[in-house]
Amino acid sequence: MKQYGLIGFPLTHSFSQRYFTDKFGREGISDSQYSLFEMPDVAALPALLQTPGLRGLNVTIPHKQAVLPFLDRLDASASKVGAVNVIRLQDDGTRVGYNSDYYGFKQSLEDWLTTLDRPLAGLRALVLGTGGASKAVTAALTDLAIPYQSVSRSKTASTVTYDEVPALLSEYALLINCSPVGTYPHTDEVPAIPYEQLTSRHLLYDLVYNPAETQFMKRGAERGAATHNGLRMLELQAEKAWSIWQQQ
Ligand SMILES: NC(=O)c1ccc[n+]([C@@H]2O[C@H](COP(=O)([O-])OP(=O)(O)OC[C@H]3O[C@@H](n4cnc5c(N)ncnc54)[C@H](OP(=O)(O)O)[C@@H]3O)[C@@H](O)[C@H]2O)c1
Repeated sequence: MKQYGLIGFPLTHSFSQRYFTDKFGREGISDSQYSLFEMPDVAALPALLQTPGLRGLNVTIPHKQAVLPFLDRLDASASKVGAVNVIRLQDDGTRVGYNSDYYGFKQSLEDWLTTLDRPLAGLRALVLGTGGASKAVTAALTDLAIPYQSVSRSKTASTVTYDEVPALLSEYALLINCSPVGTYPHTDEVPAIPYEQLTSRHLLYDLVYNPAETQFMKRGAERGAATHNGLRMLELQAEKAWSIWQQQ
């Protein structure tokens, strides 16, 4: 049996386990199993990596950076982001780290802009939040040659604060919510931007996928902006993980 799974802590409800279990059933993949490995301390990883048949792991909070010392090499996505959410175990024992959030975001954004018939050229992005997900997003924006400005609750050399956003909205058409604000059960909450300034030129991408339409998206749509939630990114990063694990 080929073994796959997710490490993190705590692991309560996992999109990945449901996704891969459904996929294995749907596609008749009977030689593979996807398990949850709840791991409070990453020091338990070397023992897990000895599991017979283990081909690949997803990595979630809090271990996306902590797994780096246990890997033999990183692909370009993981190097750019500085974090790993997919590990591939090669037949020769080599452990390679990837960041499939980078691929999922980049592909979903390109696909969305194509359906909107919106060229990348001239587009500028405001990235709301500076956590792990934002690092995958900004790496993808860099590779797509979309200039961006990070927005944070705290001012740093590389960030502006939310009270500086009103002056930027005419210049930055793409707004990407990389904060958890608006996620179930806090569905009434929205990132602190001036929604009344949004127009049909604006594009609002929310990494949040639960609920499917966040207040951020809803308030943007009311002003004529195009909106997109994080579900496609989530699916694409899972499919990318699967294609990574199939390489040998
Ligand atoms: N769709 C997908 O495939 C996908 C993939 C990864 C993550 N996500 C989602 O993306 C979101 C962010 O993930 P993450 O791992 O980067 O989370 P995180 O590290 O917990 O938070 C991201 C950033 O959001 C900002 N933030 C946190 N709480 C806030 C609040 N109450 N008000 C305003 N800003 C706040 C913080 O930035 P500042 O301190 O700089 O303000 C924080 O660094 C989550 O909702 C996650 O579920 C979706």
